[in-house]
Amino acid sequence: MLQLDEMLKNAESEISSASHMKRIEELKVQYLGKKGELTQILRSMSSLNPEDRPAAGKAANEAREKLNVLFENAEKIISNRFIAERLDKERLDVTMPGKKHVIGHTHPLTQVIRKIEDIFIGLGYQIAEGPEIESVHYNFDQLNTPENHPSKDEQDTFYFNAETLLRTQTSPVQARVMEKNRPPIRIICPGRVYRSDEVDATHSPIFHQVEALVVDKNITMGNLIATLKLFAKELFGESTEIRLRPHYFPFTEPSAEVDVSCWVCKGKGCPVCKNEGFIEILGAGMVHPNVLRNCGIDPDIYSGFAFGLGVERTAMAVFGINDLRLLYENDMRFLSQF
Ligand code: DAH
Repeated sequence: MLQLDEMLKNAESEISSASHMKRIEELKVQYLGKKGELTQILRSMSSLNPEDRPAAGKAANEAREKLNVLFENAEKIISNRFIAERLDKERLDVTMPGKKHVIGHTHPLTQVIRKIEDIFIGLGYQIAEGPEIESVHYNFDQLNTPENHPSKDEQDTFYFNAETLLRTQTSPVQARVMEKNRPPIRIICPGRVYRSDEVDATHSPIFHQVEALVVDKNITMGNLIATLKLFAKELFGESTEIRLRPHYFPFTEPSAEVDVSCWVCKGKGCPVCKNEGFIEILGAGMVHPNVLRNCGIDPDIYSGFAFGLGVERTAMAVFGINDLRLLYENDMRFLSQF
């Protein structure tokens, strides 16, 4: 009996000071296990007088009951505390303001390209594409470029070998489209082009153009000018004027460089247009008969106009950006303004 009381007292203090379930399991083994203290005491009863055994047995059973209750209570307390601690640690304040999910937006160059696409899709044009790794045949020869033209020079063009290069312009797409399609043709082709230029505020070895080509019966310079006017007004605003200056391109005759009146100063002169009042954005002209012929289109029946627009230049004019390099630096402080 004394042994049992002693054991219960020890067990009570050990169980009540157990702070986690693992300790409870250990104590269960220690007291109730096969080699546990209660078992030892039960075994030692065989040495008692037979008349003392029933009372001792009863006391041992009561002790077992008490142990079970002690363990049960301790487990309850520990698991309650565990839940309370977890609830406290993982407290969720549903009234807290949410984390703002920052969604980016398209790059200013992409914005300009999409806007141009929208304008021309509205005019019934289709979007064409061509490879950036291009042949000399399409980049120059089909476009009536003479052998001695400066643009063919290795100083200006990235050649892979004598036949293959990185396209210097989107114009080769004109030839590819004309070879595959019969007039009427109305396409624009936005894309990346490459030239061996030093990087500065207005030059980059990689830049973007949008090419346009229209071929049909009775296409005239008047159609070209009307299209450019409409386009310039859509892109830069209703008050925009255009100006054509005679120029030379191998694939057009006649050819022109085309300026738009500065959308900031309306032609008066300001920092955006460098006091010119106008900003050059594209080259244009009537498709040269040799180009039509090269692509299997009869220049006695069909005529066409074409132009090629510099996207960086246009974006700089639209957004009032004065250094082209900013467009490629991916500085969020810059890009998020547009
Ligand atoms: N490909 C010319 C360039 O990169 C731009 C150009 C001029 C395209 C006249 C044309 C055009 O389609 O008709 O400088």
